[in-house]
Amino acid sequence: MNKTVKYYPAGSLEDYYVQMGRAVQIEGHEIAVFRTTSGELYALDNRSPHPKGGPLAEGMVSGHFVYDPLYDWKIDLRDGFVQAPDHGEVRTHQVLIEEGTVSIGMSSGHEQGIGTSL
Ligand code: FES
Repeated sequence: MNKTVKYYPAGSLEDYYVQMGRAVQIEGHEIAVFRTTSGELYALDNRSPHPKGGPLAEGMVSGHFVYDPLYDWKIDLRDGFVQAPDHGEVRTHQVLIEEGTVSIGMSSGHEQGIGTSL
């Protein structure tokens, strides 16, 4: 399948604090962007993969993981996978940082996926 990724502006790098998450709206989708201590930014859907859901953006960042703020599930920021003993996956999005400006990539076709479970 041919997926095109389109990038949308998401503020400047200084808007993102180290070891914190921030919710941004991109084309009607809520994305949680996390900044790690090593300076990388990761973007995931702002929705916990836990069956009861809930936002992710307030989660604690540790290394390249975020801990679900409600259920403490450990999620790899790089691929969105929930770590054992829990199971699940959060959709991830590409992040571009160019001259201090942040853009988030949204793949086409994802629109059809809204509301369906992973
Ligand atoms: S970006 Fe729309 S739900 Fe993932």
